[in-house]
Amino acid sequence: MRHLIDPLDFSVEEIDALLDLAGEIERNREKYSHLCDGRTLATLFYEPSTRTRLSFEAAMLNLGGRVLGFASADSSSAAKGESISDTIRVVSCYADICAIRHPKEGAPKVASQFSGIPVINAGDGGHQHPTQTLTDLLTIRSLKGRLGDLTIGLCGDLKFGRTVHSLIKSLSRYQGIRFALISPDELRLPDYIRKEVLDREGIPYEEVSDLEDVMGKLDILYMTRVQRERFFNEEDYVRLKDCYILTSKKMAAAKPDMAVLHPLPRVNEIATEVDSDPRAAYFKQAQYGVYVRMALIATLLNLAGREPEC
Ligand code: NCD
Repeated sequence: MRHLIDPLDFSVEEIDALLDLAGEIERNREKYSHLCDGRTLATLFYEPSTRTRLSFEAAMLNLGGRVLGFASADSSSAAKGESISDTIRVVSCYADICAIRHPKEGAPKVASQFSGIPVINAGDGGHQHPTQTLTDLLTIRSLKGRLGDLTIGLCGDLKFGRTVHSLIKSLSRYQGIRFALISPDELRLPDYIRKEVLDREGIPYEEVSDLEDVMGKLDILYMTRVQRERFFNEEDYVRLKDCYILTSKKMAAAKPDMAVLHPLPRVNEIATEVDSDPRAAYFKQAQYGVYVRMALIATLLNLAGREPEC
């Protein structure tokens, strides 16, 4: 039985196959609409979510399966003090696969060690978010036709942004990747990614505090929200929250084919005027999230190679 806890749990070849399957599903949705008949997905969300939870649920429903779960810790027995290991043992009796979001780093991994069903990490604290990364990879590959030979700018909260951590880990496995890390000093990439991934693998990167300094050379600009819920005090959050606001004026300095991605939710970091720029890809990115989660569910349930009934 396989889980997806860390973005590197799948090899590059497996990721390629998964993205291929997501593309195939996008083109032939009807063909896959009964692949998961009789199967159930549980979504255990101990932290707020719109896209991740709903796209997981939409993915399972699109495959003909069923969904159950909870959307906040308050409405689960966690509020009574139940441990994640007990919860997952019980959920294993009710569902065939589950997606867990939790504020504690490592909680989905602990769950996977006690689980009788595949566990998917749907975001653990400020740590990792591997299914957002699959979404990002599918978006980049669809827009650029490749996952190598790209200059990727990551802008905003690189310290607490789990989507950034997972995306860097994943993209570092492709040839010709260069990163521009754009953040205020306080929100720089943590050492466990900067040193243990970028430095160790010899991936070229630069750290800057001004977006304008690198804008013209980026193929992808990945904007992120300053993560209010991970700050220890409100004053720091207020000081840093609007440090980057992408506007049409700033977009004028970018390459004509640069793509703007954002895992969403957006707060202020992208002005709404940018939404009508053809380079704004963040809503399309959210759409790709459904196809890639359909492919992931099929893969973890060992249904991916099975010829679906038409
Ligand atoms: C992200 C998350 O939850 O980490 N959102 C998402 O899953 N699409 C980013 C964020 O909350 O800022």
